[in-house]
Amino acid sequence: MSGLFGRLRDELREMREQGVYKQLVHLDSPQAAVVRLKESDGEVINLCSNNYLGLCDNPEVVEAGRAAYEEYGAGTSSVRFICGTFTVHRRLEEKIASFLGLGSALTYVSCWNANTGLMPTFLDDEDALISDELNHASIIDSVRMTKSNRKIYKHSDMSDLERALKETQDARHRFVITDGVFSMEGDICRLPDMMELAEKYDAVVAIDDSHATGVLGETGRGTPEHYGMHGAVPVITSTLGKALGGAAGGFTAGPPELTDYLTQRSRPMLFSNALPPATAAHSLAAIEYLEEHPGLVKKLRDNTSYFREKLLEAGFKPIEGDTPIVPIIIGETAEAIRMSKLLMDEGVFVIGFGYPVVPHGTARIRCQISAAHETEHLDAVLDAMKKAGSKLGVI
Ligand SMILES: Cc1ncc(COP(=O)(O)O)c(C=O)c1O
Repeated sequence: MSGLFGRLRDELREMREQGVYKQLVHLDSPQAAVVRLKESDGEVINLCSNNYLGLCDNPEVVEAGRAAYEEYGAGTSSVRFICGTFTVHRRLEEKIASFLGLGSALTYVSCWNANTGLMPTFLDDEDALISDELNHASIIDSVRMTKSNRKIYKHSDMSDLERALKETQDARHRFVITDGVFSMEGDICRLPDMMELAEKYDAVVAIDDSHATGVLGETGRGTPEHYGMHGAVPVITSTLGKALGGAAGGFTAGPPELTDYLTQRSRPMLFSNALPPATAAHSLAAIEYLEEHPGLVKKLRDNTSYFREKLLEAGFKPIEGDTPIVPIIIGETAEAIRMSKLLMDEGVFVIGFGYPVVPHGTARIRCQISAAHETEHLDAVLDAMKKAGSKLGVI
């Protein structure tokens, strides 16, 4: 026992010595464009939240949760199939399905659970599971847990995907899974090409739209809407913990036979509690708010274009793209962490990501834009970036 904990202590010391130790910061205010942190003097501009639409502290969203506590109490106190589910879960699931133009939806306490409860539930050794190499960790774990023929294709490389599809023609089913928006690069999957290949090789495409729901498309319906393919992707997983209120939760949306089957067999559904009803109510209110205020998505898009343009003018080279995830490669993990510390000193909260979240040598700071930002926030961030960037020789 002591050997184990001694080893962990040693490894933690090494992380600190190498400057790659992640220090958690503590927020003392709601998630918003400007936040108070225990670790900073006063307020800082927040550039590292997935609060894309600024709904985390939206009064209507918060009030919906408060009312749900009154109506339903704290939670189900067991898993859904044993002790039932609240009407707010059913209303949320119907809303998600209609929002995405799909037949049905099933919620989980996280998108992590939605993903790990997906493929292992209905694919086995007669089937093939094909996954992009840069998919989110929850998809990677789900792939590892699935007892099928597993193929990984090079990131967004359609000829490599086609190779995998050709190699698996003997399988009973071919299931292709991709992030809609890749969280570390901010790029969008090549959905139209993927759908064409799926048609040609009789495969089912699923996307994890966690960074696209509420973000992409004219009305925030995600990657399919972005490409004019709303309702055409058979299976979508996503989170309720980012643009849609930011509390927690995730879902799988697709044909009723899929969600019914998951209700019967998916392990996180069978062996883990339902989403707390207040959280379900926040999420439902967030989707309703978005439907009534599509201008939020436009503001997010406008903020993103403004920020990207000004970064380029200042001499930074963000990874190109159209999404509010704007990564700037710094190189070594310790340098990325240093850049984020310098920015914190300038009143900007932005996180440096390094190994093992991204490959060695590609450590970065990842700026995330929100509809909650005003131009003066973005201008202040750009000034701070210029100062920190010149100190570190990034520009
Ligand atoms: C693409 C993707 N999928 C899934 C998740 C997990 O979502 P949740 O926090 O709901 O478990 C994340 C969160 O970082 C994500 O970026």
